[in-house]
Amino acid sequence: MEERNINEKAVWDVLQMASEVVGSRTLFVGVFDEQFSVMKAFNKEGGSLVEDGLTLPLELAVCNLVTCDEPLVIPNTIRDVRTSNLAIIDGARVGSYLGTPIVLEDGRMFGTLCAVDPDPYQFSESEIQGLNRLAGILSHIIYKNQAAVLPKIEEKILQLDKLALVGQLAAGLAHEIRNPMQSVRGFIQFLFNENEQAEPFQKIVLDELDRMNELINNFLLVTQPTAPKKEIVSIVEVIHDTVAFLKSEAALYNVEMNVRIEGAIPLVSIDPAQMRQVFMNLLKNAIEAMEKKKRGEVNLIIKEWEGWALIDIQDTGSGIPLSIINKVGNPFFSTKDGTGMGLGLSICKTIINEHNGKLAIESDENGTVVTVKLPLTL
Ligand SMILES: Nc1ncnc2c1ncn2[C@@H]1O[C@H](COP(=O)(O)OP(=O)(O)OP(=O)(O)O)[C@@H](O)[C@H]1O
Ligand SMILES: [Mg+2]
Repeated sequence: MEERNINEKAVWDVLQMASEVVGSRTLFVGVFDEQFSVMKAFNKEGGSLVEDGLTLPLELAVCNLVTCDEPLVIPNTIRDVRTSNLAIIDGARVGSYLGTPIVLEDGRMFGTLCAVDPDPYQFSESEIQGLNRLAGILSHIIYKNQAAVLPKIEEKILQLDKLALVGQLAAGLAHEIRNPMQSVRGFIQFLFNENEQAEPFQKIVLDELDRMNELINNFLLVTQPTAPKKEIVSIVEVIHDTVAFLKSEAALYNVEMNVRIEGAIPLVSIDPAQMRQVFMNLLKNAIEAMEKKKRGEVNLIIKEWEGWALIDIQDTGSGIPLSIINKVGNPFFSTKDGTGMGLGLSICKTIINEHNGKLAIESDENGTVVTVKLPLTL
């Protein structure tokens, strides 16, 4: 049997990150031998669950069902034909299962990154994709076995820590700040009414307070997302509303916005207010990417594709330099000194994830295309 070279630190790092994705569920990495049976398995406590020759724990047998092609999701192992007749399932420690293949760059299957819940559970699209991405990172490290890749992982962990910390701070701070600010706003308005000389400053002061309020609300949206209140609506209408709302801002930047609908677009189940927020942020980014003096164009193309509503937002702006493309979308990353909070894309990602959708960005010096994918449920 070929001795697999396993970078245990990388496995452990990835398992730690995976626990950010699937919470308290049991996680492990199973490593296959040439016959596709699990020869080693690691859990997130850093231990090796199985050594050669020992009996495999129940859940490991399920690993074998994962193929090279895509994640295996079994929300209910007792009801699923693929697992219901496996004797091990009777042990009932595996109520549901998510396994993502770790495929090396030469196409060989190294093993699986798996999450197991003792009860039936429907893993969300963002959990599946999150684990799949981590399996991809792991396969890259294992294949190259390059120490240079590790700092990237550490950076990711730091980023997750930062997010968790920001979340805790935001929850406390927002409530502390938002309420007194509302009463300050009321009192200031009253004081201005009493003093006519101060009237020219009224708009400035109130606008600034409103901006502060908006920042706090945005902050909360990223860190404490509210569950979407879904309705069956037309995505085309939601987009038309948002475009109409931003018409004057676009004119200021000398930008023309066009909406093109390709074919009939079925209705979607979304929270219209949250989704307006997504398109507002993406359109604002597109508009802000244009040089003010030159004429620019933003084209929105809406189409249906294999059970998804696809919305492309193409701009003719400056594009995103390769050197920062990985940072774009991290909370507080902004190149707009002072004018941007760097929260727009984070808000979009949070909302789209909650809708089991996807966000992709492609960019070159001719402009940027941001694609939003939303599942069509009807
Ligand atoms: N369409 C785009 N074209 C070029 N750069 C973009 C585009 N969209 C995003 N970016 C880059 O990504 C960064 C982050 O965007 P994001 O929307 O998260 O924050 P922001 O626009 O800077 O601030 P905020 O949205 O909070 O006002 C931007 O500062 C910009 O550098
Ligand atoms: Mg923005």
